Amino acid sequence: MKKILPVAALCSIFFIGCGGAQEPAAEAPAEGGAASELVSGYDLANGQEIYDANCASCHDEGVLSSPKTGDVPGWTARIDQGMETLIQKSIDGYTAEGNMPAKGGNDALTDEEVANAVAYMVDESVAK
Ligand code: HEC
Repeated sequence: MKKILPVAALCSIFFIGCGGAQEPAAEAPAEGGAASELVSGYDLANGQEIYDANCASCHDEGVLSSPKTGDVPGWTARIDQGMETLIQKSIDGYTAEGNMPAKGGNDALTDEEVANAVAYMVDESVAK
């Protein structure tokens, strides 16, 4: 304790200096970087709500050949298309191996809500 106390005291005196030194360690989730960049600017909390109510029925379990949320290998090539393409296809709907209904089948969703849901899915489906 005798050795630690002076350090703590120094830290409170030079609070900014010590805080600055600790920040990188606290905020550096090394592998999470890619995802947070991809989905920055989207409202992930809203996305999760929209997802739970409209998308989880298929994407939680991979129903009808849908990519399962959290299946990193299954999402990599899809994510490589880029966020804009993923979002546009989710808004318009498309058919490949399976049928992804426009807006997950809920016309009442705004484009922004669909985009947030896609961002949530991507965030859950990249390596962290
Ligand atoms: C009725 C089932 C179903 C629902 C509900 C559903 N999806 Fe899908 N979704 C699919 C299927 C099937 C595919 C895969 C189509 C393919 O690539 O063969 C897919 C693919 C996707 C993809 C990948 C697109 C790509 O280019 O690879 C995204 C993103 C997506 N869905 C987002 C959503 C969002 C967001 C919602 C909710 C608003 C949603 N889906 C609801 C069935 C569904």
